[in-house]
Amino acid sequence: MGEGRLIASTRNVKDLIKPYLARAKPYDFTDVKEGIRLHLNESPYSPPQFVLDAVRSWLEKGNRYPTPDLMERFRSLAADYVGVEPSNIYPSPGGDGGIRQLFYNFLSPGDDVVINNPSYSMYEVYSSAMGMRILKVNLKEDGDRWKEDVNELLRLAKQARIVAIDDPNNPTGSPLLEAKEELIGSLCEETKGLVLIDEAYYEFSNYTVAKMIHNYPNLIALRTMSKAFSMAAMRVGYLVADREIVNALLKVSTPFDIALPGIVAGIAALEAPSYAKRVANEVSENRERLKDSLRRLGLKVYDSVTNFLLVKYKGDLLTPLINRGIIIRKYGTDLYRITVGREGENQKLLTALGEILENSGSK
Ligand SMILES: Cc1ncc(COP(=O)(O)O)c(C=O)c1O
Repeated sequence: MGEGRLIASTRNVKDLIKPYLARAKPYDFTDVKEGIRLHLNESPYSPPQFVLDAVRSWLEKGNRYPTPDLMERFRSLAADYVGVEPSNIYPSPGGDGGIRQLFYNFLSPGDDVVINNPSYSMYEVYSSAMGMRILKVNLKEDGDRWKEDVNELLRLAKQARIVAIDDPNNPTGSPLLEAKEELIGSLCEETKGLVLIDEAYYEFSNYTVAKMIHNYPNLIALRTMSKAFSMAAMRVGYLVADREIVNALLKVSTPFDIALPGIVAGIAALEAPSYAKRVANEVSENRERLKDSLRRLGLKVYDSVTNFLLVKYKGDLLTPLINRGIIIRKYGTDLYRITVGREGENQKLLTALGEILENSGSK
């Protein structure tokens, strides 16, 4: 055994991991499995045939690094879709890739991150991995929806290196600031650092702050092709931001960060984006029907402008549904998030819930 090997084996590798990363909690992916998947806010439909054809036609070039023009084509199409310039678009592997790049490159350990409670889990995951301090604004339950505590948000924003808001909110499905310019403007002015408005569900909610980046250079909008574009596994998303922010992010990326199938799928999809609107309309109609049926079962269901519904129920729905092959997600002690599935899947869910509530004596 050589001396180098000996030194390496006696070193405690844990000492090489930054203390806050060692302490960070990993995201739990154990419920990502097959079944009737109503827990990840995916589209229940496959990507359209023309997207699949485009990907297939490029796969034999998989031995080559894609030329940067693929990324430039994507930026130009995304810019047209959003109504900004290509220089305002930062393509990323899923919306998550954009969040990660922002958090890892624009923030430092100890910085304050302001988020809502509840909100999309990855803001907290990346903050804890980077040793940032999380400050939470509790959303207020108000009848059939959840509302932003605007005063508290503006108060905490003063010290924030980033304020990250998913609007509409995951998991409540509620619209929050609704791209109202006076609210977005005050938030951008009050915030010490960046304001990230995560519009993952934009095609369902139909409101956006994207064009306001021209008035507020610290504002960033996030979009993804994982939801209404039905491409979650393709890993394509993008940030819309001031070109200075985009240029800085491009310095910590390569033109190949989105794998070939993803960027090609993204281009094909944005060349004919109207299908995403059709998906969003169909899912939204199914959501309203599902909401009414769940309410008829006696459940408390909040209104939603997304592809999922939040239900309040004081009892276990998770286990009896898993036993019937249906996966939903639990939040806290009594909240359940249910993604809108295909018509048949929603029916199976309703039948199962009917039985479960009957057996528990709640009906
Ligand atoms: C609010 C929000 N933002 C971002 C994402 C990231 O999705 P992706 O990385 O697939 O684009 C999700 C996914 O569920 C989400 O709900």
